[in-house]
Amino acid sequence: MSAMKSINIIGGGRVGKTLGRAWHSSASYRVQDVLTRSLASAQQAVAFIGAGHATAALADLRSADVWMLAVPDSQIAPTAAALAQAVATRPSSDRPQPGNPPPIAFHCSGALSADELAPLRALGWQVASAHCLLSFANPGLALQQLAGTPCALEGDPAAVSALQPAFEHLGARCFGLAAEHKLLYHAGAVFATNFLPVLQDLAQQLWLDSGMPAGMAAQLHSTLLRNAVDNLLALGPVGALTGPAARGDLALVQRQGEAVAQWNATAGEAYRSLSQLAAKLAAS
Ligand SMILES: NC(=O)c1ccc[n+]([C@@H]2O[C@H](COP(=O)([O-])OP(=O)(O)OC[C@H]3O[C@@H](n4cnc5c(N)ncnc54)[C@H](OP(=O)(O)O)[C@@H]3O)[C@@H](O)[C@H]2O)c1
Repeated sequence: MSAMKSINIIGGGRVGKTLGRAWHSSASYRVQDVLTRSLASAQQAVAFIGAGHATAALADLRSADVWMLAVPDSQIAPTAAALAQAVATRPSSDRPQPGNPPPIAFHCSGALSADELAPLRALGWQVASAHCLLSFANPGLALQQLAGTPCALEGDPAAVSALQPAFEHLGARCFGLAAEHKLLYHAGAVFATNFLPVLQDLAQQLWLDSGMPAGMAAQLHSTLLRNAVDNLLALGPVGALTGPAARGDLALVQRQGEAVAQWNATAGEAYRSLSQLAAKLAAS
């Protein structure tokens, strides 16, 4: 039986903690070193994962079979460049040795491609991106929600082939995605999940600013949201669509858009754009 592969984790936030703990608990990977922006948060991540060694600098990370860069998107390329430099300059380098498989590095962004890890690829590493389509709002909750989650894999074939069973072991449903489609693919996830809290918050503010009692606004938020989700799941987007734009009441859409724009110019733009999309959907 082959030994369990080791994984180093750079970035121990919501995704790093969740996947680290899931792989440790399922004995898929041996979590080795964990690095964040501070030793204290790396120690917190290690405590949550239940395994690993908190480190304070890239240069302290030991060689590993797999490297997960679960840092924010803007930090992926700089972290890959800094890691490649640290690896290339230290004596016991992670350069692939003849007969040994090269290390695998992946990041977790849905929008960016594996090319962000080009400096590591230049060392002979195999690189990929692996994006779980889940809102990792809280690692404890995300652990329970992981099974059945679609996971988009993209990058060097050897890295994708090696990562697929590791994600499938967590119950994820993997599929291949072309690098050039990642931005639009991820925009789908932004529309499906990220904008929902934004819209709910706007609704709350509008209700409160129009004089609705706070307790009633909070209750309406949950009943109306459940009502909308139930309708959406039962009837689909076209069947569940209601409201002035869907009814073709363009005069009201115009007046309401102006009122919202006076209340908040950005919200007014959103109201107009979404009303145009709603009218188009209703006519489809
Ligand atoms: N959250 C989601 O729902 C979700 C879903 C799918 C994919 N993703 C992707 O997963 C990745 C991580 O997102 P996240 O939500 O887990 O982020 P997060 O909760 O903000 O955590 C980011 C982690 O990276 C660390 N970090 C930041 N800059 C660093 C650097 N230069 N060097 C080392 N560590 C650094 C942070 O350190 P500190 O702990 O010290 O702050 C933190 O531990 C992103 O690519 C994101 O697009 C996120």
